[in-house]
Amino acid sequence: MAPPTFNPDQNIRLFLAKLLEAGGADSVVDALSFLDTAFVLTRNGQLLAANERFADLIGYSRKELSGIDVTKLVAFKDRAQLQHKLSTNFSSTYRLDLLTKSAEVKHVSITPCVFTSSGTVYRLAGFVDNTDIINLKNAQIHHLHNISRALIRAIEVRDPYTIGHMSRTTLIALEIAAALGLPKATMEAIEMGAGLHDVGKSAIPIEILTKPGKLAAHEWSFITKHPEIGHRMLADIGLDKVSTDIVLLHHECWDGSGYPHGLVGDDIPLEAAVVHAADSLEAIAGVRPYRKAYSFEEAVNIMEEVRQKYHPDVLKTCGELVKSGKFSGKEYNPTPFYEQEIWG
Ligand SMILES: [Fe+2]
Ligand SMILES: [Fe+2]
Repeated sequence: MAPPTFNPDQNIRLFLAKLLEAGGADSVVDALSFLDTAFVLTRNGQLLAANERFADLIGYSRKELSGIDVTKLVAFKDRAQLQHKLSTNFSSTYRLDLLTKSAEVKHVSITPCVFTSSGTVYRLAGFVDNTDIINLKNAQIHHLHNISRALIRAIEVRDPYTIGHMSRTTLIALEIAAALGLPKATMEAIEMGAGLHDVGKSAIPIEILTKPGKLAAHEWSFITKHPEIGHRMLADIGLDKVSTDIVLLHHECWDGSGYPHGLVGDDIPLEAAVVHAADSLEAIAGVRPYRKAYSFEEAVNIMEEVRQKYHPDVLKTCGELVKSGKFSGKEYNPTPFYEQEIWG
């Protein structure tokens, strides 16, 4: 969705220009009380006037702000972006982090309006302070990650063969998602969903999870319950639907042969298809009670032999990443469980 724009008609631009001519930049910001916080700056980013609320927000007096280079008020990571937007007269809403006088970060949305007065281009910027909302969201995410770590450890303590499986699956899934060009919000959901995808295994009897050799039919039916159990376990902790769907659907196969629902093709969310491939790759390349580990090249060849089970684009991307050596780093190589510290 395109960002909202503040695109006043010519009359409002003329009004701003007249205000500026008659009473200076202060009169412009003072007249626009409907904006949460506002300031006027020149085209090269010199701040001419700020309203009281903007000055309060960042801990300066209005006098101190007069004439200041506005990029100095912005977090270092956002400075180049702001300079570019100033130089191109960008007029859509965008987000950046401001730094207060005491070096606190304020997360704001800016809506600029460019106008001309006496042949000079000015910019009026209205701000909305989202700091409290964003801090609350970050605290919730932090809290969810802590819950997630506790759940993963609970499984790893029972089944040492799974140590690191979910975190390595997550790294692989994120590489595939990045190569597919998936957006940041989707990547975040994949990180959470992949990180917890086997959480339902905590309810599977340990003798079945660690059994060497082939599972009997009734034992296999226990195993196939773990996506639904995991989905139920996570129902009330505030995860987004994309993440919980990954947990529920990470064993669905492109050809309909997966579980729990036997979904086919595009009925399987792409995020779940990504985690499905990453999970297979990691599992095949890892040691199991009943077999040795394979290399990533061998693992992807095994997946290619049953290619009908995987989303074609996801499998192709997975193969390309393996070929490029992307997963050959230490963080992807499963360390035999007997060499790992469970509580390390
Ligand atoms: Fe699983
Ligand atoms: Fe898994």
